[in-house]
Amino acid sequence: MTKHKDSNAHSDALALFGITGDLAYKMIIPALYALVKRGALTIPIVGVALEKWDLKQLHARVKDSLQHSAAGIDDKKAFNKLLALLSYVSGDYTHPETYRAIKQALGKAKRPAHYLAIPPFLFENVIQGLGSAGLAGNARVIVEKPFGRDLASARELNRVAHSVFPEDAIFRIDHYLGKEAIMNILYFRFANSFLEPIWNRNYISSVQITLAEDFGVKTRGAFYETVGCLRDVIQNHLFQIVALLAMEAPTRQDPDAVQTEKVKVFRAMRPLTSADLVRGQYAGYRNEPGVAKNSDVETFCALRLFIDSWRWEGVPWYLRSGKYLEQTVNEVLVELKPPPQKLFEDSPTLAGQTNYLRFQLAPHSSIGLAARVKKKGKKFIGDQKELFLIEEEPGEQSPYERLLGDAISGDRTLFTREDASEAAWAVIEPVLKEHPHALPYRKGSWGPKEAQAFTAQGDLP
Ligand code: BG6
Repeated sequence: MTKHKDSNAHSDALALFGITGDLAYKMIIPALYALVKRGALTIPIVGVALEKWDLKQLHARVKDSLQHSAAGIDDKKAFNKLLALLSYVSGDYTHPETYRAIKQALGKAKRPAHYLAIPPFLFENVIQGLGSAGLAGNARVIVEKPFGRDLASARELNRVAHSVFPEDAIFRIDHYLGKEAIMNILYFRFANSFLEPIWNRNYISSVQITLAEDFGVKTRGAFYETVGCLRDVIQNHLFQIVALLAMEAPTRQDPDAVQTEKVKVFRAMRPLTSADLVRGQYAGYRNEPGVAKNSDVETFCALRLFIDSWRWEGVPWYLRSGKYLEQTVNEVLVELKPPPQKLFEDSPTLAGQTNYLRFQLAPHSSIGLAARVKKKGKKFIGDQKELFLIEEEPGEQSPYERLLGDAISGDRTLFTREDASEAAWAVIEPVLKEHPHALPYRKGSWGPKEAQAFTAQGDLP
């Protein structure tokens, strides 16, 4: 596929596949409303789904979604505008008549954006359906994660997508990239000069990334059975964070330059082996709706990763994530080595006492820099103090609002390129095929005790 001639043009309609689904209800509809509210969305929206709903039912769903969202319906005018932009097509994604009906609903639109907020097994059907119906020319397609379920299926999906859309029209969403705190990692690293001299194996002893949730799979058991923690959040969300932390400076602030540096990180990652990870499953997971009674799917994963590059040789990267852990927290801890000389009684020698940089992403976002400071008194003894560099600001755009707005306006900066997605799959490929059994853990704990070995300090926050 060659490049679209209008690859940066604003889309003139949005077809939202899966508008009746959970993701649309929780994330996408509130994002659309927020975009309308700030005047950034004025194009028609064609909702598509299997349900035989009429427009009135769709309107009721939109209202319900917004009433349950954080903002609620705080701008009646914007709410009515959003309803006025909506139309609805009910149909099966495998039937050509569905696409004919979408075409009709799109009317005069010449550059629609098709957003596939649908189960991954339907991606290829819809992409091919769009191609056959002549709905792909000058259009773009926004694809939800997971993009593939291993390297071979990601390649196949890319092949199908490229038979219909050029790469610059494919927007692979990872909502983590739309988070302020994550964009700040990129900014903080390359907008400052004090970091660069220490940002390497000479000063950094380890990097630990945690995405812990104090809740389970909720109503998503059937979906979760098809992914597990590795595919659900490690290959995408956590790897993207690693890439931003580990990459070299891009040659310029340009989507391709950033992607190119990220791809280099994924390619330098040592492919994981089963000795590099611990898989866990919370007690009671097998009784969740949609989950197999003998499921070995992991709801927890802790792993140790190495990046074989000049900058990172020998530095362990500890990644862990899990459901039903003790608390909900998402943070990056970059731990520095202790000073070379143990001058004071309490000079740090152990991990956990040394300087560190903490990027906290959830429940609040902040950047903290920890350094030791002397306590008052005769003795040369101090405390580790954290210097807070930023704190969350109210009124930030939600990741979905940001990413949808970007996709509609053709800005690819925060989307994942084909080679980055495949290179990330290649790292976890060996452990998708061969891995240890999922070890049981208690709800509200920090996962199986065997995971301790895969944390920076051998303990947990
Ligand atoms: C999603 C996963 O992509 O990310 C979920 O499918 C996970 O399982 C979620 O809970 C975490 O996102 P956030 O933004 O709540 O940290």
